[in-house]
Amino acid sequence: MTTHKLLLLPGDGIGVEIMREVERLIGVLNAKGGENSFEYDSDLVGGAAYDAHKVSITEEAMKKAADADAIIFGAVGGPKWDDVPYEHRPEAGLLRLRKDFDLFANLRPAICYPALAEASSLKRELVEGLDILILRELTGGTYFGEPKEVVTLENGEKRGVDTTVYTTSEIERVIKLGCDLAKKRSNKLHMAAKWNVMKTGVLWRDVTVATHKAYAPDVQLENILADNCAMQLIRNPKQFDVIVTDNLFGDVLSDEAAMMTGSLGMLPSASLGAADPKTGRAKALYEPVHGSAPDIAGQGLANPIAMIASFAMALRYSCDMAAEADAIEAAIAKVLADGLRTADIMQNGLTKVGTEEMGKAIIKEVEAALS
Ligand code: IPM
Ligand code: MG
Repeated sequence: MTTHKLLLLPGDGIGVEIMREVERLIGVLNAKGGENSFEYDSDLVGGAAYDAHKVSITEEAMKKAADADAIIFGAVGGPKWDDVPYEHRPEAGLLRLRKDFDLFANLRPAICYPALAEASSLKRELVEGLDILILRELTGGTYFGEPKEVVTLENGEKRGVDTTVYTTSEIERVIKLGCDLAKKRSNKLHMAAKWNVMKTGVLWRDVTVATHKAYAPDVQLENILADNCAMQLIRNPKQFDVIVTDNLFGDVLSDEAAMMTGSLGMLPSASLGAADPKTGRAKALYEPVHGSAPDIAGQGLANPIAMIASFAMALRYSCDMAAEADAIEAAIAKVLADGLRTADIMQNGLTKVGTEEMGKAIIKEVEAALS
């Protein structure tokens, strides 16, 4: 019998509502019994933590996160906290979790469920059956490079600076993972960077070519300029399988990929650290790619699918519970095929449901599949 320790960090806005559906699902999995069970604790992060403690995440919550086998994260941010000091803004809590636990590999699978091909802003034939994986480097680059500041010049003008920094080893480890992931899929890897403009881009290309040659020469590798990649994603997304890219490009390209699946509300993610040499386990955080959607928060309208699918990724990557993860993913496909839709993916003639109804419908399918 294995007990998995989870820390739930719902955060702000719709994060709170969609996390309730994960709790419901955990309850059902625990009730089912079997070899695996979950123990979980919750804490505040983001604006909610700021309101209560004047920081975006407390040391106590960081300690709980360090002790957990997996961190399940909702969403952070909102206009309410636009004026809080930069270092305490809601997003800082998430960035600290990523950085402190060295969660360098962010897996963002964009899968277009057949039932949702119509909901995408692209034509059905372009997205139907789409299954791509964006692998975003998550702990380096423009997000964390120093200096990062706004300074006032002598003439009174202000100057904002962000710095993009990468080292060989930071690039190498994510490229290796990209090769590993490509091998398990259709053996195709694209690396997106701007080596025609950026020095970090030159390094990304050089390290990618060398790593690929030494580590996985059988993988079909193509280096692609990040702007061209953005264009090709819209033109013909199915030409891609795994796209590996830096932190900033990955942020942008993954939002773009998300829309191909019908809605930003559909895209889950896993952020993984390096595997512990002793246990083989990696520190991990799971979160939907979408944000806190303050405009619809608290109304029970949010799509819980990306959150539930992120939990499925936790079962797969942190808990060795592939059968349960498969059951959850199949349950999502089933309720969509049955015509259930939250507002963000609603289509004429189908059944509009809220967060809780969608969550319960998925959980009912999971229960049926596992009983
Ligand atoms: C994401 C988000 C975050 C990011 C924000 C909330 C800091 O957009 O996970 O893609 O920019 O990385
Ligand atoms: Mg983003």
